[in-house]
Amino acid sequence: MVEWTDFERTTISSIFASLDYNDVGPKALCRCLIVYPWTQRYFASFGNLYNPEAIKTNPNVVAHGVKVLHGLDRAVKNMDNIKATYAELSVKHSEQLHVDPDNFRLLADCLSITVAAKMGSAFTPAVQAAWQKFLAVVVAALSKQYH
Ligand code: HEM
Repeated sequence: MVEWTDFERTTISSIFASLDYNDVGPKALCRCLIVYPWTQRYFASFGNLYNPEAIKTNPNVVAHGVKVLHGLDRAVKNMDNIKATYAELSVKHSEQLHVDPDNFRLLADCLSITVAAKMGSAFTPAVQAAWQKFLAVVVAALSKQYH
């Protein structure tokens, strides 16, 4: 089981409490689709993703970015049991969506950059360390059901 310090718990919950899901979620997903264009292949049903502007304004991308953040706040609320919390979501990404699990880390990195840009100097090295640890546990849990 992953151990969390009080600082890590407080940091993660306070970042999520102040996060504007409707802004950060779409921005992070957009970044992922633009910086790592092969990730677009999983979103063929989302329509026009031909250029960065089309990605930014695509309503399916926006809605899905928000959905991913809501997926993450389930981990925040279950920090002592992230693996079990994501068992079903991991199966879905693996068996149904066939998402290569390397991509989880790429989206996590885009999310970190988006959050860092928002928080500015408040995203201190100690805060970043807690944040990266949280995302590393999330990525491991989402990758868990892959064989
Ligand atoms: C669907 C979360 C990473 C591709 C979903 C759903 C959630 C979610 C909550 C909705 C599941 C449902 O409807 O039952 C996450 C989280 C991620 C992550 C927390 C990592 C931080 C990724 C990555 C990709 C991806 C990296 C591909 C590059 C998809 C696709 C769907 C989906 C294609 C279905 C979209 C649709 O057709 O509506 N994800 N996801 N996910 N995810 Fe992820």
